[in-house]
Amino acid sequence: MRSKIVAANWKMNLTFGEAESLVDDILDRLDEQDELNCEVIICPPFPYLELLTDFEFDEQRFNVGAQNCSAFDMGAYTGEVSAKMLKSIDVDYCIVGHSERRKYFGESDETLAEKVNRLIENNMSPIFCVGEVLEEREAGRHFEVVKEQLEKGLFHLDGDAIYDTIIAYEPVWAIGTGKTATPEQAQEMHAYIRSLVKERYDQAAADDIRILYGGSCNAQNATELFSQPDVDGGLIGGASLKANDFVSICLQASQIGAE
Ligand code: 13P
Repeated sequence: MRSKIVAANWKMNLTFGEAESLVDDILDRLDEQDELNCEVIICPPFPYLELLTDFEFDEQRFNVGAQNCSAFDMGAYTGEVSAKMLKSIDVDYCIVGHSERRKYFGESDETLAEKVNRLIENNMSPIFCVGEVLEEREAGRHFEVVKEQLEKGLFHLDGDAIYDTIIAYEPVWAIGTGKTATPEQAQEMHAYIRSLVKERYDQAAADDIRILYGGSCNAQNATELFSQPDVDGGLIGGASLKANDFVSICLQASQIGAE
């Protein structure tokens, strides 16, 4: 059975001191639990990655991911951070293709495919985000849009590399809006994504790949969403900035994982 994953995307929030107390609070609450039947990944802004990897090694309660990486390998690219650099400080995961990067930073499917390549070359796991905007859903184009994002940004990978990848379905209209996809809408899209993985790769890859839901997922709706058969956990924005809420989401995933 696929284990559940709860991933925190802190986005561009928190000062260093705030990040430190948040992770302390999360660990205090996690320490009250004997066992957690889910994986936890925390994706802070770049300057806090090492703080988190240090905690990771001391406590071993979570993994650390970046929110972005360069499409280039190394060299004269001012302001960029390469996958190789991330790997060298023990970061094992990286979000790619978040809708905020597609929208505000003009990241194309071709650029995203290159980022995925750099991560795989460095033995890291991409958390590859897909999702439609409201107009696309209202026009009934959501399946088509998500299929195209996967085909252009991810499905160039060969059979082995797809096993190192996590997919996150984040309908753009649900991000930061308090408007969550219904469990039925999430399940429908996740099952569709899994069918695309089967079509492009095989049944084993489809059975293995984790597909996370993101978009106003919180402590009130996590159980409903994560109970869907093809929803393997969540990518959490706003609610990951509050220790109580985030740990509650992790415990809900753990509970379902234990069933
Ligand atoms: P919210 O949980 O704040 O809607 O953000 C979701 C998201 O974008 C996670 O990557």
